[in-house]
Amino acid sequence: EYQNALEYKLVLHRGFNLISGIHSPEVLDQIHNFEIRDSDVFVITYPKSGKRENIAATWYYYVTATNDQLNSERVPWIELLDSEKQFVSASSPRIHVSHLPYKFMPLGLKQKKGKVIYVARNPKDVLVSYFHFHKFANMLETPKDFDTFFEKFMEGNVFGNCWFEHVKSWCSHNDEMNFSYITYEEMIKVLVERIASFLGRNLTPQQLNDVVEHSTFKNMKNNPQANYQQVPVNLLNHQQGAFMRKGTVGDWKNYFTVAQNERFDKVYQQKMKDVPLSFIWDM
Ligand code: A3P
Repeated sequence: EYQNALEYKLVLHRGFNLISGIHSPEVLDQIHNFEIRDSDVFVITYPKSGKRENIAATWYYYVTATNDQLNSERVPWIELLDSEKQFVSASSPRIHVSHLPYKFMPLGLKQKKGKVIYVARNPKDVLVSYFHFHKFANMLETPKDFDTFFEKFMEGNVFGNCWFEHVKSWCSHNDEMNFSYITYEEMIKVLVERIASFLGRNLTPQQLNDVVEHSTFKNMKNNPQANYQQVPVNLLNHQQGAFMRKGTVGDWKNYFTVAQNERFDKVYQQKMKDVPLSFIWDM
């Protein structure tokens, strides 16, 4: 069912790097026309921005009022669906996650159908997390060293493409959609409360507590599903790493050289000058 690790490679499709052997360009092109229901929720992130689990956990409380089904497998990647049929046949309410840029997403979102939650993380930590992920994930090329990966990331020569373009593509269309922007660095409790309120459900203090507890890094680290341990070893080398790696803010300081940091800041200022977003870089 899965190809040999050596056969995965990034292939440009309409300006987007998809992973051949995993993503199908035909399905990606169909997503545009997927019919959106008002109850649909899409969680959008650039890779390694985290917090999908927190959202999934909150969502399950919204749907079931129990924590029986807190399970990452039940939150499918829209870019991994094998056809529109799979999307249509899921019962409401549906939740999907995606790393795709805005231009691939269902047009129905622009008619204010469904809800979009965009999760952003400070891009220096994203870069470091992605560096480690490239060693862990067999479908991505293992970088020679950190400096090599730094260049790749800055060029957008990775799955997800350019971080700056990703966040800008979604956030500049926020008015068109039912859109909520959250960040990795927010306190889990605040995050969960904000998601619950966006989904139109206030959790009881007990439920809030349960979701927060479920979503702490410590508990996530011990949760096989949150670490995608069911994914076969030719895709993820479970000996080499884990989805839940370190879970901190400011790890980039352990990797960036002074020169890399200065360069990153310069690019950031230039690319983000018209974008009113701010990040917490360290805690
Ligand atoms: P690190 O590599 O910095 O540890 P994604 O789930 O988008 O692939 O992102 C994974 C990154 O988010 C990893 O970052 C992971 O540890 C972190 N992460 C995921 N869930 C988290 C949580 N509940 N609390 C803190 N960090 C979390």
